[in-house]
This record gives sequence, C-alpha cells and structure tokens, in this order.
Amino acid sequence: MEVVEDLTDYKELEEQLRKEITDEGRFVRIEDRQDSGVLTDQIISSLSHGKYMMNWRGTIVLKDPLSLTINQQLLWELKPQTVIEFGAYKGGSALWTADMLKIFECQSRVISIDIDLSLLDATARSSPHVEFIEGNLFQVEKCLPEEFLKNLSHPWLLVEDAHVNMIGVLEYLHKFMQPGDYICVEDTNPLTPMMGGQGLVKELGYGLYGPTKMNTLRNFLMDHPGKYLVDTRYTDMFGYNASWNMNGYLKRV
Ligand SMILES: C[S@@+](CC[C@H](N)C(=O)[O-])C[C@H]1O[C@@H](n2cnc3c(N)ncnc32)[C@H](O)[C@@H]1O
Repeated sequence: MEVVEDLTDYKELEEQLRKEITDEGRFVRIEDRQDSGVLTDQIISSLSHGKYMMNWRGTIVLKDPLSLTINQQLLWELKPQTVIEFGAYKGGSALWTADMLKIFECQSRVISIDIDLSLLDATARSSPHVEFIEGNLFQVEKCLPEEFLKNLSHPWLLVEDAHVNMIGVLEYLHKFMQPGDYICVEDTNPLTPMMGGQGLVKELGYGLYGPTKMNTLRNFLMDHPGKYLVDTRYTDMFGYNASWNMNGYLKRV
C-alpha cells in the first residue's frame, strides 16, 4: 500500500501563528465593520442541521460549531471571573462554559438567567458550578440587583442569547462593566434561521432571522463611542464574520 508522506512544513505554520497572534489591528470600531460575512445562507442552513443536534454531556447546547470553538478560545484567553448568560434554555451552554472554566482551573462564577427554569435539563440543574436565576429580562434590575452586580469579580463575559429587551439589558449592565470585560451577542448574523430547529426539521422550511438584532447592536455601540471594540480575532477567526455572532465579540475598552 502506498504511504502518503505528510509534506506540512510545521515551522512555516508556527511562524505564521506567531504573526497572527498579535494585537495589531485586532480591535476595531463598529463604524469600520460591515454587516456581512463569508457564510452564505446555504452554508448556515447546512450547519444548522448539526447545531440543533449539539449536546454537552447529553444536554442540548444551542450553539453553532464555529461559535462554540470561538467561545472556547475566548474563555481560555480571557479567563473570566464572572460569566452571565442571558437565556439558559436547557442549561447546556452554561454547563459547557462552567466545565470549560473548571478544566482551565479558573475559579469563575457562571450565572445563567431564564424566565422559565423548568426547562432545565437535570444534569445542568445539578451542576454545582452554575447558578441559575429565574427572572424576566424585561425587569433585568430585579434579576441582577445593583448590590449583587457590584460584588461580582471582573473580568466579566456577558452572553446575550435571550433575544429580548437587549438594549435594556445591555444599558443596565453597561453601568457596571469595566475595561477588559467582554460581551458576546449571539445570533446577530441576518442569515441565521428565523426559527429554532430550521435547518434540521424539514417541515419548518428555512427563513432568515434578518438584520434587526445586528442593527440594534450597532445602535447600542454607536451610543457608546470609544467604549466597545469588535475583537476581530474572534469574529473573524474562520473568515470575516464567520459565525452566528456577526460583530458579536466585543471588548469593553
Ligand atoms: C435561545 S434560548 C437560550 C439557549 C442557550 N443559551 C443555549 O445556548 O443553549 C433563549 C432562552 O431565552 C429565554 N427567554 C425568553 N424570554 C425571556 C425573558 N423575558 N426573560 C428571561 N429569559 C427569557 C427562553 O425561555 C429561552 O430558554
């Protein structure tokens, strides 16, 4: 049998890696970013097939494979002391985040909020490393009172995945954020599915989520000039805006 040689020059690869891992040009104002990306709706609908089958330790995680990989890289670099997720659903992404941070030996608090915690999967619910809070994000100040927020160690990673009252939530949290914190706003890519399950469940067809969430995020960022920059290491890791989270990895500066 013919043996195919591996012709990779790992030295060249490592040299390129050293060049890539630089902060030069990494952080960009929203005004200098396009609301477009390299993923087409056909690719996104194909990836959605797997996205809706994704689980972590048997618990559904509603993340596309690109965002999940990007988030893992971000968690390793940032080593957040506090993660607050808006929208828990089954608790899978909070469980995954807490497990990753444990593996990285971080003593982080992972907090996840949902209006209906009866949705939680048993594995997520029983994790000692996630704090689930039941509450309505239209009353975000009741879910996360001022005194509670003031006692949470930084850096923070906020993950917006509830798709409700986004401006209200971000404006409220903005008052407590510090330089070095991050926000990940999910599902800002207008080509992602309009409805959960599209791409996997044939009967649902495929409709586009549309630009509303991206426009809302852009308005929030433009209302806070000089406070948030898009981290292109993460937004563009697999190509320009190549994930569900278009211009969605933001550093508070
Ligand atoms: C997309 S799911 C979250 C998925 C989860 N982050 C994951 O990646 O597996 C959105 C969640 O937001 C919650 N939600 C909707 N409206 C809400 C509200 N007003 N307040 C709090 N949570 C809400 C829903 O109950 C739902 O579980």
